[in-house]
Amino acid sequence: MEDWIAAGHIRFPDNPKVMRWDTLASLTDAVANDEVPKSGNTQMIHPNLPDFGDWVGRSVGFGTPSFKRYKNDLRNPTQPLSSWITPNSEANTITTGANAIISGTNDEAAKVIKSVFGSKAFNYAKPVSLIRELIRQSTDHGDIVLDFFAGSATTAQAVMELNAEDGGDRRFIMVSSTEATDSDPDKNLCRDITAERIRLLNASEDKKYADLSAGFAYLRTKEILFEDLDYDLAPIDAWTALEAMHRLPLTQYDTTQPWNVHEADGVILVLIDRFKPELLDWLQERSRQNVFVYAWAPGLISRELGGLNIEVRSVRDTLVRSFQQ
Ligand SMILES: C[S@@+](CC[C@H](N)C(=O)[O-])C[C@H]1O[C@@H](n2cnc3c(N)ncnc32)[C@H](O)[C@@H]1O
Repeated sequence: MEDWIAAGHIRFPDNPKVMRWDTLASLTDAVANDEVPKSGNTQMIHPNLPDFGDWVGRSVGFGTPSFKRYKNDLRNPTQPLSSWITPNSEANTITTGANAIISGTNDEAAKVIKSVFGSKAFNYAKPVSLIRELIRQSTDHGDIVLDFFAGSATTAQAVMELNAEDGGDRRFIMVSSTEATDSDPDKNLCRDITAERIRLLNASEDKKYADLSAGFAYLRTKEILFEDLDYDLAPIDAWTALEAMHRLPLTQYDTTQPWNVHEADGVILVLIDRFKPELLDWLQERSRQNVFVYAWAPGLISRELGGLNIEVRSVRDTLVRSFQQ
């Protein structure tokens, strides 16, 4: 306690009231009149205390000293960050190296939106500097940053800026709603704003954004009721899920083809939508490789493939099992 007092960590109340009761009777009276120090509504000195009499003849201060923590003590990145956010305009008031956040304002955010999109494409975006500093404090290389209410993808830009700055490989997942409504059913904020910001930053010729880059996949979610799986599950949806399950980079499904193929190092993924005799030759050439063949009706396709020693898996069962896990 003495060390803390010497280091200026203990803050005493200004002009505290100090009382002294010289007899047990006057102390008992003070308790009866509720004139003793209290914590909330509870009296700190009361006759039920085993050492009640010890308080006679002592100076008793009202008010509680508090512990004072300085921003400089928060330098260790694993310690909690001060919740105080300093605006850019006051940045020079901060001790260098302090674990504080310096952030732009919503005006900065509006200017960045204008600079990336060329127009006021999104209202109430957050300043990139704020999100960037929060991510700087809370992530390390290799981390994945998830923003479930991504809006204009400020978070994606913040991750891209940080990675460019420190050579990091943080990844991001931006989730947002389309904001489509009955009166504006075609609105698609995700496609036109969230993903578009990342596309524009990747392609930007502006010097400010020259070092920013992030490969990304644009995915839509689709809710399918379990009982409607056989009718509503489209090859295009199953394809993405199968590629993800096999940890392959995602590719576009070509609906015009009877089957789609993803040939990668050491693995070939095939989704057969419709059987065509040419499939036999195509598979025969690859039958010695690590081929994963999926079909809607595996029994039927297996029979068509005849002597080929290739296991055909059910798309539906595979996905159900995978999602149930
Ligand atoms: C306040 S904005 C986020 C702004 C963002 N931080 C930026 O700087 O652009 C919130 C976003 O969350 C989206 N949203 C609202 N409800 C959602 C939900 N249930 N699931 C996903 N996104 C949702 C909205 O469409 C809106 O774009």
